[in-house]
Amino acid sequence: MYKPVSGFSKKTKAQKLEWLATTHFSNDETAIATLKKYWNSDEKLQKLHDDFIENTISNYYLPLGVAPNFLINGTLFTLPMVIEESSVVAAASNAAKFWLNKGGFTSNVISTQKNGQVHVNFFGKQSDISTFFSEVKPKLIESIASLQKNMQKRGGGLIDIVLLNSTKALNGYYQLHCTFETLDAMGANFINSCLEEIARTFETEASTYTPFKNCNQSPEVVLSILSNFVPECLVRAQVSCKVEDLTTKHIDGAVFAQKFVRAIDIAKVEPRRAVTHNKGIMNGIDAVVLATGNDFRAVEAGVHAYASKDGNYTSLTDAKVENGIFTFSIEIPLALGTVGGLTSLHPLTKLAFTLLQKPNAKQLMQIVAVAGLAQNFAAIRSLVTTGIQKGHMKMHLMNILNQMEATELEKEKAVTFFTEHQVTHSSVESFVENLRN
Ligand code: MEV
Repeated sequence: MYKPVSGFSKKTKAQKLEWLATTHFSNDETAIATLKKYWNSDEKLQKLHDDFIENTISNYYLPLGVAPNFLINGTLFTLPMVIEESSVVAAASNAAKFWLNKGGFTSNVISTQKNGQVHVNFFGKQSDISTFFSEVKPKLIESIASLQKNMQKRGGGLIDIVLLNSTKALNGYYQLHCTFETLDAMGANFINSCLEEIARTFETEASTYTPFKNCNQSPEVVLSILSNFVPECLVRAQVSCKVEDLTTKHIDGAVFAQKFVRAIDIAKVEPRRAVTHNKGIMNGIDAVVLATGNDFRAVEAGVHAYASKDGNYTSLTDAKVENGIFTFSIEIPLALGTVGGLTSLHPLTKLAFTLLQKPNAKQLMQIVAVAGLAQNFAAIRSLVTTGIQKGHMKMHLMNILNQMEATELEKEKAVTFFTEHQVTHSSVESFVENLRN
């Protein structure tokens, strides 16, 4: 065990590397060289990345890929996707192409409200806190006037504050439930600043409120924070076509539709399947969320919570056949921003927005929902036909070859060979070993 280090964040980057080298890498120069290999040669750009977080020692690359041919509400898009999993971009591209000549994807934003809470302890009479809240509410709103001035100018800001009595769930627990419109900003900083100001005003006003003083019971703020559960910030995306248009040279459209709908039905009723099913959806969603500099943890948390909003964890997508029409859809909450945060800081994020034709937050919600739907379509299509491994391992082939440090010629031969043969770790290993012998 090493000796705890103090003042680490105050050290220079060089000092941090030196500490790492001696403490963790036995002064192995290759470890530090590896970290340095990923530094950007443009010092200004590197400094920008250094400043994103504390104690940056290097950059961690993930591939940025693109999936073209996404027809969304009549406009063609090329989606930027940041992801490490080999087959995700290929699957998205396939799904985009599949739906391109069938009318593409449609998507619409249902609602855009965000929310946050001031969580409060109060062990006095409910009528006292209710009366106090009604009296103090205008002051709470007034207290954030300067914070929300600009947001209000653009048409957003605080929508409402209500006092919720949650004492049935937890003794003495009340909430100031605040709703917001944050327009093109994801809004985390705005919401949190507003909540903290509201909380301060609430406590200050409570400290001089006579009924509280009289019974020696004053409300106390526990914490104030936005919620990543945003079921009032919803987007829907959908594809549909005649069942016969699903026919390919491999499978009849009606058979495919029936298998597909059944797969979705299973994910609706079986949480073990639903989690994996939704994970596949998040492959597409996270990839675009990351490429656009948005907070994928917030999106993940909110989407999975939404998947269990009725008490059982279930599929985020729905599929049906009615009157010979196959319809496949998704409805998810997405709190996304196209301004603020990393969106205007990271050069690749800026580029991603240009690629996406400079969407506003609502348009980005539509694009991201489509990415999730497309990814799920590709996964279910493989799962109910060829199985997932065929396509997945085909894409993973290059990773296995790189692990074996295959030469360009070996790679070329392997790619040709494995178009006709099953890719497994051992089959690739023995193929390359045979070549080498
Ligand atoms: C793998 O990353 C995603 C899948 O497991 C999704 C699914 O099972 O639907 C293929």
